[in-house]
Amino acid sequence: MTLKALIALVLFLPVLANAQDADRGRAAFADCAACHMVKAPDGRALFQGAKVGPNLYGIAGRTAGSSKGFNYSPSLRQAGQQGLVWTPETLEAYLKNPTTFLKKWLKDDTARARMAYRQSHSARDIYAFLKSAK
Ligand code: HEC
Repeated sequence: MTLKALIALVLFLPVLANAQDADRGRAAFADCAACHMVKAPDGRALFQGAKVGPNLYGIAGRTAGSSKGFNYSPSLRQAGQQGLVWTPETLEAYLKNPTTFLKKWLKDDTARARMAYRQSHSARDIYAFLKSAK
């Protein structure tokens, strides 16, 4: 292998790794699709799913509770107004236990999440998929 090819390979590896995370995340998203879809603003369904929860298109890096046309719980809307943004870390903590997460975030023991779903494994792949779904 030439040095140029080696450098190209090393530079390309993180891109490849990201694509793999996103592929795994797409597969894992099947669980989420029981309640969520990923639908682009032009109407393309990037992942078919139900409307129990908000459309998760463009969620990576976005303020919580800000998808138009969804009736969020008061707690999630409030968390967004107080600056909650979806990152790999906040998504993972939220998915572990949405209500516990919101109670902590809002420092309010009466906070309640409306998402009846929990998962204990890493949310990194799902985040990578949601970030890549365009
Ligand atoms: C049983 C239905 C259900 C399942 C399954 C589910 N969710 Fe949700 N999700 C909801 C509902 C309902 C809300 C709105 C919560 C609220 O208003 O408090 C929500 C909210 C969210 C939000 C906040 C969206 C925003 O606009 O701020 C994210 C992010 C999210 N879900 C991710 C996921 C992911 C990722 C999965 C799969 C690992 C998943 N959810 C599985 C029902 C579900």
